[in-house]
Amino acid sequence: MCGIVGAVASRDITPVLLDGLRRLEYRGYDSAGLAVVNQDDEIDARRAVGRVAALEEIVNGVNGHLGIAHTRWATHGRPAEHNAHPQLSSTDVAVVHNGIIENHQELREQQLAAGYTFTSETDTEVIVHQIDSHMKAGADLLSAVQKTVDELKGAYGLGVISRHAPNTLVAARRGSPLLIGLGEAENFVASDMSALIPVARKYMVLEDGDIACVKQDSVQIFDQNHKPIERKVLVSTLSDAETELEGYAHFMKKEIHEQTRAITETLEGRLGANTVLEIPLGKNAKEIFDATKEIKIVACGTSYNAACVARYWFEEFGVRCDVEIASEYRYRKHVVNPGTLFVTISQSGETLDTMAALDMAKGLGYTNTLCVCNAPESSLVRASDLTIFTHAGREIGVASTKAFTTQLVTLMLLALCLRRRALGLDYDGDEVEHEIVQELRSLPNQIEHALSLEDEIIAMSKHFADKHHSLFLGRGMHFPIAVEGALKLKEISYIHAEAYAAGELKHGPLALVDKDMPVVAVAPNDELLEKLKSNLEEVRARGGQLFVFADAHSGIVSDNDTMVLNVAPVNNHIAPIIYTIPLQLLSYHVALIKGTDIDKPRNLAKSVTVE
Ligand code: AGP
Repeated sequence: MCGIVGAVASRDITPVLLDGLRRLEYRGYDSAGLAVVNQDDEIDARRAVGRVAALEEIVNGVNGHLGIAHTRWATHGRPAEHNAHPQLSSTDVAVVHNGIIENHQELREQQLAAGYTFTSETDTEVIVHQIDSHMKAGADLLSAVQKTVDELKGAYGLGVISRHAPNTLVAARRGSPLLIGLGEAENFVASDMSALIPVARKYMVLEDGDIACVKQDSVQIFDQNHKPIERKVLVSTLSDAETELEGYAHFMKKEIHEQTRAITETLEGRLGANTVLEIPLGKNAKEIFDATKEIKIVACGTSYNAACVARYWFEEFGVRCDVEIASEYRYRKHVVNPGTLFVTISQSGETLDTMAALDMAKGLGYTNTLCVCNAPESSLVRASDLTIFTHAGREIGVASTKAFTTQLVTLMLLALCLRRRALGLDYDGDEVEHEIVQELRSLPNQIEHALSLEDEIIAMSKHFADKHHSLFLGRGMHFPIAVEGALKLKEISYIHAEAYAAGELKHGPLALVDKDMPVVAVAPNDELLEKLKSNLEEVRARGGQLFVFADAHSGIVSDNDTMVLNVAPVNNHIAPIIYTIPLQLLSYHVALIKGTDIDKPRNLAKSVTVE
């Protein structure tokens, strides 16, 4: 999704801006651009559709000490050079913008009446003209931005420069993350600290309504009432190590194979001999768990699928659990029972719908808020009472893999902590907890085994490459695993994939089954196996082609219509984590055959910071 980088320094900042944009590429975008104030105090701007590499080809001779840059993910106006950012008002002011301005139409009409002309279909162009109009009326750059944001409705992260203020970068934020990177006699602005790894370790996070006036040797921040305010200086722990492919063809493949290590880190220091330790989950974890009677989980996409799996664990353990998609949650009324813990799950910690749901939940009487997150320096973490980090390590591929399995492991830890309270067990748990803890310890080995199935999965993937549709089936807690498998396949191979609870097949989707519709099934050896087998017979009877990930003792065998991939027997509680791995590999290898852009699939973004 859109990314912002800005810099003010004594050196030429064009290379810094380009490097920052490259580091933000993982967020997903469709065009890129930059603008600097050059040595003649003029704005020099370049924009290109496609990759940052295309922008690099046209920035020869663009030099300056002050500049802004942007990767755009289209919302208003198709991906095109004239819609890319920076947007300019004549040659005077340039703006980069993340977010959506809701009253852009109204402002556009006023500006047209005042004689401004428009060169784009973006909602952003009204911002730059508005700033320009205030400057023409006598305001300096900072006050012009302050006046402008007071007139905007919607969400924005802004970087603004003007040729009339050749030493000043103004940044503003409401509803879209923005931070200030502090260098040595040079300062930066970015939507994500990863853009600034080589140039700044120290940074300040702007809060909603903040406007910052950033110069080479000073940063002044003003709050939403335009009063000067101090923001805490933090030190970033991000490093470059995780942004290298290390010999893998794609980040997705690397991240699938990293799951052994990632899960080891999720568990690191959190397990005692037989139990889950609570202190390492956070200093207020015990107090929050003690106050929890039931939970509400809100998330999007893959993180939502993790929540759907975890609901089976929570309710089996006696903890009432409700799960909802964040974009739906935020637009309806709620009844909140006393003692309800509001849980968000997010890999990035920046998903706008999830963040907005949390903001809304805070006024609704939830007892506490907890975030399951992979990004320590993110908005959701800052806004939650407690965060349990998944410790997956940076995930670059747009399709979530290790983020999902580490979310599942983290949710199991949470479920076991709440189980003790729900069942009135003491801190040593009970046999069930002891058994699950041992299973969690064995996860890295079991994942290694699942990864070793890759050659068989490559053979299976060849049957999908020429297909346009597919069905994924599962039952119980493997239904959301089927949903996640279908999401992965559609995201990166662009094959239409729909997931159904297998028992639902006969209520409609069976009509779709024929030889051109591969049907993928997840078949662990649990109490629903016999039911699932009957559902698979329904598919076979209609000439469907089955691809079954089955427990080695399931009794399901390969034949002309059925290809079975045997998964080593695994404890039922952690089976969803293991069965995820072959589904991830299947989608990866289908996409590889189809030659799609696996790490940056079309139309998608890694961090979804618009509504
Ligand atoms: C997963 O493969 C997707 N790219 C997407 O569904 C993602 O999980 C969703 O946008 C939520 O992101 P988050 O976990 O960062 O909040």
